[in-house]
Amino acid sequence: MQATLNALVQKAAAEFATIQARPEFEAAKARYVGPNGELTALMKQMGSVPKEQRPVVGKLINECKVHIQELLDAAVDRIAAGELKAQLGPAVDPTLPSPDAGPGTYHPLTLVREEMCRILRKVGFAVADGPEVETEFYCFDALCTPADHPARDAQDTFYFPETARFGNVEKRVPEEKYLLRTHTSSVQIRTMLKGPPPIRIVSPGRVYRRDTTDATHSANFHQLECLYVDRNVTVRDLKALLDYIFASLLGKDTKTRFRPHYFGYTEPSFEVDLSAQHLPKVKKEWIEIGGCGMVDPAVFSAVGYDPEVWTGYAFGMGLERLAMLLYGIDDIRYFYQNDLRFLKQFA
Ligand code: DAH
Repeated sequence: MQATLNALVQKAAAEFATIQARPEFEAAKARYVGPNGELTALMKQMGSVPKEQRPVVGKLINECKVHIQELLDAAVDRIAAGELKAQLGPAVDPTLPSPDAGPGTYHPLTLVREEMCRILRKVGFAVADGPEVETEFYCFDALCTPADHPARDAQDTFYFPETARFGNVEKRVPEEKYLLRTHTSSVQIRTMLKGPPPIRIVSPGRVYRRDTTDATHSANFHQLECLYVDRNVTVRDLKALLDYIFASLLGKDTKTRFRPHYFGYTEPSFEVDLSAQHLPKVKKEWIEIGGCGMVDPAVFSAVGYDPEVWTGYAFGMGLERLAMLLYGIDDIRYFYQNDLRFLKQFA
């Protein structure tokens, strides 16, 4: 019996060692320990073993059974490891250079933003930043747009629930609400409250409005805001600066024109149009690009500047529209889709 059992274990060890896949494994397992298996058959013979030999033979068979189970376990572990390896594919060598095609590139909006900041830095403007979550005070009230003012409806936006808390944005009064800023003009107030004139800042950033998306509208987009406060600032200075920045960005054939308009925080106020027909894909003679004006004395009073002493201009414009003009892009949605075919064109 001992010899038979030893031979069986040896045969099993040899067979199991060559098994590669689960179906083969199941078949081999059945050949030994299945209902018609060889070991099962030997165990069935126990009945015919003389009584006094049974403990010895039983022990031998049991040992053989344990052995075969160990061989089966080892085989199944080996098969599982092989399956995992196949799933993982060839080994990765982390020391090899990246297969990516070099470093990334700038997004077209980043390119336009940086170019505008460079143009403005050249004439003394410093970049200022403000939070995208704002309070009603900075976004509207301090800009002479009180709660019942129709201009507030025109910039209908995303308010936060009263329970919302933002550690880095302080409320002036507990009743006021948090909202996503509708324009970068809020940075004007933040900057003026920080210190006395002269002030010369440019503030680019993301803004939000409740808007239905189409080729020229997006619920979030980017603006660039400028504020200049000094003595004896006039509309001529404002016009001269706008002429300078658009000629620098879009070429010297670019023209600007002012159309009278209303903004709560400037008096007089204008909308700015651009004429840049030398650019590809520009079909219209005049394209509206932003708003501007002379800072309203009431805004100066609100931030503690003496309106008898200080004068200033401010303007805000959309960065997407500028980038669309500059690069001949005809749909604003391209900016946000992260499609490499689009982005690579600005590499
Ligand atoms: N905040 C205005 C807007 O989003 C644009 C604007 C108009 C900005 C006049 C200004 C300004 O600084 O003086 O439509």
